Amino acid sequence: MLLTRLKTLSAVAVLALSCLQPAHAADPLKVGFVYTSPIGDHGWTYSHEQGRRVLEELSGNKVSTSFVESVPETADAERVFRDLAQKGHKLIFGTSFGYMNQMVKVAKAFPNTTFMHATGYKTEKNLGAYDLRTYEAAYMLGVIAGKMSKTNKLGMVASVPIPEVIRNINAFTIGARSVNPAITNRIVWLNSWFDPGREREAALALISQGCDVLMQNVNSPAVVQAAQEKGVMGFGWYSDMSKFGGKAHLAAVVLNWGPVYKKIADEVQAGTWKSDKRWLGTRDGAISLAGFSPDLPADVKKLAEERHAAIKAGKFHPFTGPLKDQAGKEFVAAGKVYDDADLLKMNFFVEGLEGSMPK
Ligand code: GUN
Repeated sequence: MLLTRLKTLSAVAVLALSCLQPAHAADPLKVGFVYTSPIGDHGWTYSHEQGRRVLEELSGNKVSTSFVESVPETADAERVFRDLAQKGHKLIFGTSFGYMNQMVKVAKAFPNTTFMHATGYKTEKNLGAYDLRTYEAAYMLGVIAGKMSKTNKLGMVASVPIPEVIRNINAFTIGARSVNPAITNRIVWLNSWFDPGREREAALALISQGCDVLMQNVNSPAVVQAAQEKGVMGFGWYSDMSKFGGKAHLAAVVLNWGPVYKKIADEVQAGTWKSDKRWLGTRDGAISLAGFSPDLPADVKKLAEERHAAIKAGKFHPFTGPLKDQAGKEFVAAGKVYDDADLLKMNFFVEGLEGSMPK
């Protein structure tokens, strides 16, 4: 009886003491993620969600994470970022280009919270930017497309005309023309990251113009699904989309954000994080090939894997000259590499592209 009372009293004391304790250094870091489209099971947002899960797995109880999905790149985003900061998230990732100005604004209002913006170029003392070299991925798929096309006409469903997307379109075309100089690549712009209905319409239009290998820089599998329906070929972009594309799915590029998120969270916890811009890629293990079609000829698969290995080893860069722009003017001389500063502001098309930038 006495023993039971003592136990109860000590439990009460422990509870009271723990209520009085200030937040402990070992409290988990609250990390928030903001996604622009539904997580689903494919593409860009899904790849970030996989990264969030890897962060949780690698960090154990050192972090606790939450996410908000389908947040439009409008004033709504500002509200969501503020809300996460107010709820005690000390590290917040915004995973879409169009969140940039909202994140700058909210970062200024919450100087003790660290913000990281995927693919942006603006920074503040407590706002950094991070991105992956997705043009390397696009190049590798381009090599496969160039080998597989019979009509020599590729088609691309493009999202938003920013340097990231223009680089990807160019790298895809350069990769294709490196193995088949007769290739042309036709673009349809959607001005949107995620609009499955319009993605499908654009794919069908490209197919009706004779394009027999399609690529996309949008978030749904609608393009590879349309390719399958019409008996042409396509790719998974940012995740393996073979379950959507079936036989039409030649290969996919997978993004691995987990280690990026883990490193940033570790730095914030250690107090060593500094605002900067990070650009990682194949060499860092952040970009890989997956979902090869069993029907892909062995020599084509081997070629793509060899280019992947060369990029990984730092022996090859997709933007190695000689390279010409759409008008036939050389912009990188033979043997030279178009450097990061130029790649980051790329705003023109390379030789072989048909179409123009949206006004
Ligand atoms: N938002 C949704 N998809 C994307 C993407 O592919 N890139 C960037 N920068 N933002 C996105």
